[in-house]
Amino acid sequence: MPYYRQMGEIPPKRHTQFRRDDGGLHTEELMGEEGFSYDSALLYHLYPPTALTAIEEVEMEDQAMSPNHPLRPRHFKTHKLKEGGDPVTGRHVLLSNSDVSISYVACDDDSGLFRNAIGDEVAYIEAGSGRLESVFGALPFKMGDYVVIPSTTIHRWVLDDDATFRALFIEASGGHVGPPRRYLSRNGQLLEHAPYCERDLHGPTELILVDEEEVDVLVKHRGGLTRFQFGNHPFDVVGWDGCLYPYTFSIHDFEPITGRIHQPPPVHQTFEGPNFVICSFVPRKFDYHPDSIPAPYHHSNVDSDEMIFYHEGNFMSRKGSGIEPGSISLHPGGHTHGPQPGSVAASIGKEGTEELAVMVDTFKPLDIGPGGWDSEEDKYAWTWLEGR
Ligand SMILES: [Fe+2]
Repeated sequence: MPYYRQMGEIPPKRHTQFRRDDGGLHTEELMGEEGFSYDSALLYHLYPPTALTAIEEVEMEDQAMSPNHPLRPRHFKTHKLKEGGDPVTGRHVLLSNSDVSISYVACDDDSGLFRNAIGDEVAYIEAGSGRLESVFGALPFKMGDYVVIPSTTIHRWVLDDDATFRALFIEASGGHVGPPRRYLSRNGQLLEHAPYCERDLHGPTELILVDEEEVDVLVKHRGGLTRFQFGNHPFDVVGWDGCLYPYTFSIHDFEPITGRIHQPPPVHQTFEGPNFVICSFVPRKFDYHPDSIPAPYHHSNVDSDEMIFYHEGNFMSRKGSGIEPGSISLHPGGHTHGPQPGSVAASIGKEGTEELAVMVDTFKPLDIGPGGWDSEEDKYAWTWLEGR
């Protein structure tokens, strides 16, 4: 739902003749969501984006998922996972259900061209920087950015050499990710009570034109993985406009909503997807009622599983649990969770927090994938026992 943008050259009227320098016509492509009934963009290509020279099946690595059974709260240390590959092929699947898949990657290589035809992707950048190159142009990203990539956007990750790229990938299994509806006007403008506004959303900064033939693109689709070879490089777009394009939003631009007493997790909500939400916990002043308790109360999430990725800070409410930067906690529905013993009392009188974390709440149980099993710290379930 980002607002209207335009880049490069486009004709003054849509669906009219727009000629190349050689007199031929540009190829106009409408990339539209939900049939022709939701956000869309019009892209103007030098060559038809339909011209394929080869199609081949690509074998998928086995990412077998298994239920969280017996049911238990879990702790995964993502920094224990093997580094390698690239931001597309190096993903370790941690958790998934029929609505969303959550994976982690630590790598140094650029990716090849990729198109996720299943749903929107959101990458949260834990470390590293670079640019997401796509048919919409180059989109710079850095640590702390959410990179939102609409489904079917052909793109590649180009990494800077400054640090190992580390990111959490949240992939919708169909459907789209955007700002919470309650923060939008009827026409889609971010309202005054939203924790961010359009100025905080950053689109591509420059178009990319690549003149190459027979170019491979890996396509992830409901049937598996397919390699398309395009007759011309997909980066042949001379201009586009519309409300559908990749964008970044820095977690540091999320303005926390605080109060006299503890505010519920929805105040941290940043994005919504089909049957899941993404929330940002950012440095903020604590509650200012004279008797307030800044630590969260124990809660039983009747209808959701809750995973939190801990990026930076000392995570006061998880004290003594072994949670550290790079950790993920999974608190499933059916298990009441809350701060570790001592944290509630220790929080009283504290002025604020420097914690930085990303939470994904899902409305269906999350199964555990190879990345979860390979990084689990199995003592977490018992960390509420001592000092209670
Ligand atoms: Fe919680």
